[in-house]
Amino acid sequence: MLVLGIETTCDETAAAVVRRPPGGAGEILSNEVMSQIAEHAAYGGVVPEIAARAHIEVIDRLVQRALDNAGLKLSAIDAVAAAGGPGLVGGVLVGLTTAKALALASRKPFIAVNHLEAHALTARLTDELEFPYLLLLVSGGHTQLVAVKGVGDYLRLGSTVDDAVGEAFDKVAKMLGLPYPGGPQVEIAALKGDPTRFDLPRPMLGRAKPDFSLSGLKTAVRIEAERLGALNQTDVADLCASFQAAVVDTIIDRSRAGLRLFRETVGQSNAMVVAGGAGANSAIRRALMRFCGESGLRLVLPPPHLCTDNGAMIAWAGIERLSLGLTDDLTFAAKPRWPL
Ligand code: KG4
Ligand code: ZN
Repeated sequence: MLVLGIETTCDETAAAVVRRPPGGAGEILSNEVMSQIAEHAAYGGVVPEIAARAHIEVIDRLVQRALDNAGLKLSAIDAVAAAGGPGLVGGVLVGLTTAKALALASRKPFIAVNHLEAHALTARLTDELEFPYLLLLVSGGHTQLVAVKGVGDYLRLGSTVDDAVGEAFDKVAKMLGLPYPGGPQVEIAALKGDPTRFDLPRPMLGRAKPDFSLSGLKTAVRIEAERLGALNQTDVADLCASFQAAVVDTIIDRSRAGLRLFRETVGQSNAMVVAGGAGANSAIRRALMRFCGESGLRLVLPPPHLCTDNGAMIAWAGIERLSLGLTDDLTFAAKPRWPL
């Protein structure tokens, strides 16, 4: 089974071809990503109108490159999948319309993929992994703990009541004068910092319901930064390290609550899976390895380039849906909001 996947929900234009040999896990034949970082950098964040236009400019070439690098013609593809949301609607429209046109022209099925579902299923592309499993989704727009019971069968155990983890990283980076996108910059700065210099809050610690709250932590960083006034490199590094340590503690405590709820409501979990851009953070990855080791839980960490937005995850979710006979009509409309 061969599926072409297209991703345009945010600031990454991506196209990929993924294959599932009969009975096997996935095989990525091509995975092309073009980031729009340069276009948005001057604004310190993603500008929806600029994003949509930038997707239009590169999408055709990128799809062609994905096919060329897979050594395939469109006629060899079994279905065309695109992220149908949630995300910036202008960008989603570009990917969806492209996928519908390709599907129509090649008389192949079209599949509209939920971007969050694609993050949730990526671990099954890289690993032989059975349902059910505990998913920690930490992206720029979402932070959730989810029981993944099957394709299309998700139970949200908890989520953030304010900022997403990636969003908190980005906002902290911005207030400390680090360039966009902030998450990776905070991680780099934190490497040289002292995580114990600032005593920052760990919101929601100890609560039974596995929800997150990060805006208070973000405000605490702002207060410390304002108290210091002009920040030198050491201050920035120490603030980043202290912030990251607080996020890590919060994630582990919330994951513990999530695992408890999973075991109460669903039963034994086959693994814990991490997905979304902030899942590329190595401090978060290390802490989760320790946590899963202590909890007797297998940890599945897709490689960082499959944690951030990419086309392979859309193609893979397309394969999972196509395998169950789930395809979509060409009248499918872009969904800015689309909860799991
Ligand atoms: O999943 P993703 O690529 O896009 C969304 O669907 O949101 O996630 C992007 C988010 C951004 O907020 C980015 O700053 C964050 O993931 N991120 C990181 C790291 N790499 C990306 N956050 C912390 N540490 C990183 N190394
Ligand atoms: Zn994403």
